[in-house]
Amino acid sequence: MKNLSIDPERLWDDLMATAKIGATPKGGICRLTLTDLDRQVRDWFKARTEALGCTVTVDDMGTMFARRKGQRADVPPIAMGSHLDTQPTGGKFDGCLGVLAALEALRTLHLAGYETFAPIEVVNWTNEEGSRFTPALIASGVFAGVFERDWAVNRQDRSGETFGAALDKIGYRGPQKCGDHKLSAFFEVHIEQGPYLEEEGKQIGVVTGVQAMRWYEVTVVGQDSHAGTTPMPRRHDALVGAARLVEAVNAAALRAKTAVGTVGLLEVKPGSPNVVPGEVYFTIDMRDPDPAVLDRMEAEVTAAAKKLGGELGLQIAIKNIWTQPPTRFNADCVAAVREGARVSGLSTRDMISGAGHDAAYVSRVAPASMIFVPCKDGISHNEAEYSSKEQCAAGAQVLLQAVLDYDRRLAERYGK
Ligand code: GLV
Ligand code: MN
Ligand code: MN
Repeated sequence: MKNLSIDPERLWDDLMATAKIGATPKGGICRLTLTDLDRQVRDWFKARTEALGCTVTVDDMGTMFARRKGQRADVPPIAMGSHLDTQPTGGKFDGCLGVLAALEALRTLHLAGYETFAPIEVVNWTNEEGSRFTPALIASGVFAGVFERDWAVNRQDRSGETFGAALDKIGYRGPQKCGDHKLSAFFEVHIEQGPYLEEEGKQIGVVTGVQAMRWYEVTVVGQDSHAGTTPMPRRHDALVGAARLVEAVNAAALRAKTAVGTVGLLEVKPGSPNVVPGEVYFTIDMRDPDPAVLDRMEAEVTAAAKKLGGELGLQIAIKNIWTQPPTRFNADCVAAVREGARVSGLSTRDMISGAGHDAAYVSRVAPASMIFVPCKDGISHNEAEYSSKEQCAAGAQVLLQAVLDYDRRLAERYGK
């Protein structure tokens, strides 16, 4: 295999250039999916990849595919990428590193004039974060046939705008039917978003799978009433019920030990200092490697809701809007990552991802795996999120090597 090296400076420059689109005063990024800022970074991505001779196609969920030709046009591409949308207080690396490391790997091939066997693609998946439109990973979910396309484009943000309308507004509803795009394999570089690589002084996480996750939407309905005149025993305070349920989610996760449980979004109505809240909407995110643990947590939270509803005179509805089983990545792709790290002289640790990733859905329809790099203090979904230039470069280098290793094996398999 030819010894190609990615350029850490070029990758870093791209990370810093895209971080300006939606930059926050605290050094992070707020670039919610399908907003005008998302359009700007998409336009940047399209221009950059086209300048490298790529053909860019967009599917009807807005996912972008930048393709570099290989020897064989009849072989599905080996793809790599991640997402360019961020959380409201996101950092510069979650998602962006995966797309820009892929861009750098592709640029390295281009500048070296290296001809791969299969075409190579860089992918920017739409709405990985699930922050504006729930659930997360919606486009890769449609791609994998887990969600219906029509259901997905009708999802609404909290202002009532649909995913489809937002796609049209930024001009990124493409002609290709989502899912009609075969891949030979998919590789995703990502910051770990947790503490283990840094803690153990390892340079690369060889990701073998992703833990199970579930999302719920909860509505608590009580009665609006005057804060000064409604005696305490007569109240039906939806926020008091919600607060106790938040505590129940936290307690269920603590009891389960390996699990995590989060209420990250809560809306109180009518939202006035002197009105007893009559309605609360909130979300629950629960994760554990074992779905049976999530079954138990769900049962505990549901029982708590029933009890609270009776005690406080509230109607509480809990709706499961997303269930993702645990993912086990493809052994050949995991081996390609391990080999990529070995030839790059980098230390590794096998790991299961605590965060959700598009690679998990893609792995249902194509062989896939992931490469993690350490991030400072394990902090992510935070403007302070940070991985060094060297750490980012290590991820991109392993990505390039893994893709080349997979490409070589693919050529053998096709009898070339
Ligand atoms: C994606 O960011 C997730 O919630 O894991
Ligand atoms: Mn991400
Ligand atoms: Mn994220």
